[in-house]
Amino acid sequence: MDNIGHIIGTSARPDLPLAVVAGAGALGMAMARRIAQNYRVLLADIDITRTEANAAAMRAEGCDAAAIACDVTDPDAVMALAGEVGRRGGLGALVYVAGLSPSAAGFEAIIRVNLIGAARVCEVLLPHTCPGSVAVLISSLAAHGLTPSPELQELLRDAAADDLPDRLATAMGDKATSQMAYVLSKWGMNQYARREAAAWGARGARIVSLSPGLIATPMGALEFEKSPGKKAMYEKTPLQRECTMLEVADALEFLTSARASFISGTDLLVDGGLHAMMSEG
Ligand SMILES: NC(=O)c1ccc[n+]([C@@H]2O[C@H](COP(=O)([O-])OP(=O)(O)OC[C@H]3O[C@@H](n4cnc5c(N)ncnc54)[C@H](O)[C@@H]3O)[C@@H](O)[C@H]2O)c1
Repeated sequence: MDNIGHIIGTSARPDLPLAVVAGAGALGMAMARRIAQNYRVLLADIDITRTEANAAAMRAEGCDAAAIACDVTDPDAVMALAGEVGRRGGLGALVYVAGLSPSAAGFEAIIRVNLIGAARVCEVLLPHTCPGSVAVLISSLAAHGLTPSPELQELLRDAAADDLPDRLATAMGDKATSQMAYVLSKWGMNQYARREAAAWGARGARIVSLSPGLIATPMGALEFEKSPGKKAMYEKTPLQRECTMLEVADALEFLTSARASFISGTDLLVDGGLHAMMSEG
């Protein structure tokens, strides 16, 4: 090992800042591979067996990658993630990709993983940021499809609250479906990025959300199968196809680079023009 920490025969890059990719599924791995040129990558996921294998595959491809088990709904696991980031020298970038789709889970689990988990991971990692750090929260076009009632908006401000799913469900009654949980979780996530820009900015750091439209992933394919409305959305997409994961990674690469150094507290829609088309009626 030299005095910076390079180890002969490995792809260790101690000279690079650390990126945490929370949620190392299909899209998370495409993101991780893309930013590995500029960051050491720490993959955090509830499925540690798959994630260890993914980290090993990335190392074999020349990336500096490691894995950590983290259930984002478990406060102790989230604290342990922050401890690991501290031991690895602090945060360069957070890419929060962990998410459950409406066909995969119920109301409570979706709010817990998609929104509460995102807010808690951001909260514990904020003290590990430095000037130039960035958080990118992977949201969805779904966040743009509806404006929640003032009562729900007020509840969603408390994005890290443990009783948020109960309070939302009580307020919504029989409208508390998985589909609504997905929409509200992503709406809440985009608002969280806007609201937290001041706290991150005070440390010279940025926080943004990135809202993809229809992406060709296994999660996306499941939604095509289970929710009939998705076909109509596909047909309305001006570019007349799904987004590839590589195209989402293009946007992420920009947002995590110095080229995006004045972009904070906002959302980037990567939807092939679908939102514009839907709001035109
Ligand atoms: N696929 C699409 O069409 C599409 C479109 C728009 C937005 N998105 C968003 O992109 C994100 C990723 O989607 P994907 O296609 O990669 O899905 P995916 O299911 O492949 O990946 C999600 C990952 O989150 C992890 N995860 C689930 N619960 C967790 C928990 N409690 N703690 C830690 N990790 C947990 C899973 O293990 C998985 O690795 C989601 O937030 C989704 O809402 C997807």
